[in-house]
Order: sequence, then structure tokens, then C-alpha cells
Amino acid sequence: MFNFEFYNPTKILFGEGRIADLAKLVPAEARVLLLYGGGSIKSNGTLDEVHAALAGRSLHEFPGIEPNPSYETLMQAVELVRAEGCDFLLAVGGGSVIDGTKFIAAAVNFEGDPWEILEKRGSNITSALPFGAVLTLPATGSEMNDGSVVTRKSLHAKRVFSSPLCFPKFSILDPSKTYSLPVRQVGNGVVDAFAHTLEQYMTYPANAPVQDRFAEGLLLTLIEEGPKALATPHDYAVRANIMWCATMALNGLIGAGVPHDWATHMVGHELTALYGLDHAQTLAVVFPAMLRVRKESKRAKLLQYAARVWDLRDGDEDVRIDSAIRKTQDFFEQMGVKTTLAGYGLTAEVIEPVLQQLEQHRMVKLGEHRDVTLAVSRAVLTASL
Ligand code: NZQ
Ligand code: ZN
Repeated sequence: MFNFEFYNPTKILFGEGRIADLAKLVPAEARVLLLYGGGSIKSNGTLDEVHAALAGRSLHEFPGIEPNPSYETLMQAVELVRAEGCDFLLAVGGGSVIDGTKFIAAAVNFEGDPWEILEKRGSNITSALPFGAVLTLPATGSEMNDGSVVTRKSLHAKRVFSSPLCFPKFSILDPSKTYSLPVRQVGNGVVDAFAHTLEQYMTYPANAPVQDRFAEGLLLTLIEEGPKALATPHDYAVRANIMWCATMALNGLIGAGVPHDWATHMVGHELTALYGLDHAQTLAVVFPAMLRVRKESKRAKLLQYAARVWDLRDGDEDVRIDSAIRKTQDFFEQMGVKTTLAGYGLTAEVIEPVLQQLEQHRMVKLGEHRDVTLAVSRAVLTASL
């Protein structure tokens, strides 16, 4: 554990009214392209605040970045950036808009076929346009990390890339902009942040008590605050705490110097690519099954999680572990996110196609021990029916 690098250059501006700070953050002479999704930022007033802050600037707009942003759509934005000579990107929206903007930033000056960025997971990125973000959906952590997930619809391929060149220069987090989230996205966001924390925590002991306790703090806060966001949607403090949890869950902090898993995410991405489930829905389905199937190799951390997060300290070890996993699953359901494939109308027929996709994408040795083979993924999918 005591040998690692930690790098995060993204400046965070947190709080109500901070969108006005765009006037200072976006370089005065920049030719800006503002990118957003399907229109939620218009109806909740976010776009108006952005316009007010950037009045008088050179500003073009690219709407229509869809959830699970597609390569096909993003390449249209790349053309617009080139045609208009834009030199600064501003993402306003959730993880999909921010991820999409990262891809556009890297693709604009990429030599060769930009899909190669996904094929090489970002290792071939040599430059990227500068960009900032205004976050409207706490979930992915994309606002303070250098990762991105892009889907090529024509191939049913959902692929990840990352590059130190793809950190946002800044991100504005105004919790009041999340009041308008539909219940489904509130649940999705909490489940995604919870899953990010588990992917970096639920592995094996690494003599890293600081990272463990940061992670447990995030898990406990999400368990406490998540249901409140459903019950009292206009509570600023609740929204703020969830927003900060989601950012901290995937900005490098809790993952520095510890083993990572990410098998659940990789299996989940295939479920989204093939069957259109929301990202967090896939995690809610796969994570409980993943923990059950891999209980032995995760035993020590499962016991720690049971004790410190769910207060299960006494009695038979296996009973404690099973009940911690059950409580995790119940929590996802409490957040309104279903936790079985059947909950989304899917049957055992989906298992082989998902395994084929995993094989095609070389996802055949996943997890902290690289022992999540296709056989293990098959067992996990079977356990999530
Ligand atoms: O498109 P609009 O109209 O804006 O509506 C969006 C969208 O329909 C809506 N929404 C966002 N903010 C809102 C709002 N509706 C009302 N009020 C608001 N304030 O929410 C819907 C979903 O948005 P999306 O951006 O797709 O959700 P999310 O933030 O969960 O992002 C999911 C994407 O991020 C990727 C996922 O795979 C998925 O493609 N991930 C990115 C990661 C990263 N970069 O580190 C890590 C994650 O594990 C994840 O894989
Ligand atoms: Zn995620």
C-alpha cells in the first residue's frame, strides 16, 4: 500500500449560486462550446444561469448528448468543434454529458480513427482540449476524475478510457440544481456512488486504514442520506452531502494505494450495451450476486464491512456476511433500484450474450485477483436472475 501516486488537478466550486463563477473560470477570450443533454438544464434553470454568467462570450451549443453517450453523437460534436474553431468545452449535465465532453476533448486533435481511443483505453491520447463542468446529477464522479465511458451503438459496445489529460479544469457543484432529478436518477446516483466505493474497498485487507475509513464514511453517509433525498427532495443539506459523497467516491482519494475490483462495473457495462439498463441498475443487479459468488476471497473485508457499516459484529461469520449482503441489496431496493435481472424483465437467455461480449472485450480476468473468469461471470449472472 505504501507505494502509489495521487494526482487530481480538478478545482471544485461547491454551493448554491456558484454557477456565476463561470465568468471567472472560463478564459475571457475562449471560443466556448457548451454541451448538454436532453433538456433538463433548460427546465430547472441551470442553462439560464450559465448563459447569464457567460454573457457576451463566444458561445456555441451542442445539445442532445444522450444517457450512455454514443460515439455517433459525440463525433457530430467533434465536427462542430473543428468547424467553429472552439477551444474550450463546457459540459453541463450528468455523467453522460461530462464523459462525452472528455471524449470530444480528446478526439478533436486525435490523429487516426478516434474509436482507437476506446480500443486502447485512452493510453494513446496525446492532447485534449481544456474543459470544465457544471454537474447536475451526483453519481459517477466524472466531475473530478479522468475517466469516461462511451457507447458505440452500431457495435453494442460500451467501452471505458482514461487519461490524465482528461481531468476537468474545474467543476461546479450546486446541490440545488439536483432538486429536479426524477426519483429514478436519485436512486441511480446513490447506488452508483455506493458501488464505486465498494469497488475500491471490498477487496482484501491492504493495511490501509485511512482509505478504509474514508470509504466506510462514504458508505454510511449514503445509507443515511440517500433515503432522505427520496423523502424530502428539497433538503439542501441532504443533496449537498450526497453530491460530495459521489464526488469523493471516485476522484482517486479512497482508491489510492489499495487494490481495486471493478468486475461488477465491467459486467454491468455489457448489460447496458445489450439491454439498455441504466448504469446503476446494472450495478444493483450484479453487485450483490458478485459478493455472494466471491465471498471466500473477500471474506476479511466482508466481515469488516458487516461490522463497521451494518453493525453486525456477533455470531456466525457466514451469517454476518450473508446478512450484510442482504442489507446492501435491501438498501438498493429502498432507493428504488431493482436488484435482479427479472426486475427488468430479463431471463437466463441474456447470460450467454453477455459472456460473449465480455470475451470479445477481453474482460476474462477481472477483479482484484484477476480471477473473475467467464465461468465466474456466468455464476454471478446466474445468481442475479
Ligand atoms: O439529458 P437530460 O435532459 O439532462 O436528462 C438527464 C438524463 O436523462 C437526467 N438529468 C441529469 N441531471 C438532471 C436530470 N434530470 C433532472 N434534473 C437534473 N438536475 O438524468 C438522466 C441520466 O443522466 P446521465 O448523465 O446519463 O446519468 P449519470 O450521471 O448516472 O451518468 C451515467 C453515465 O456515466 C457513466 C455510465 O456508464 C453512464 O454512461 N459512468 C462514468 C464514470 C466516470 N466517468 O468515472 C464512472 C461510472 O461508473 C459510470 O460508468
Ligand atoms: Zn459506476
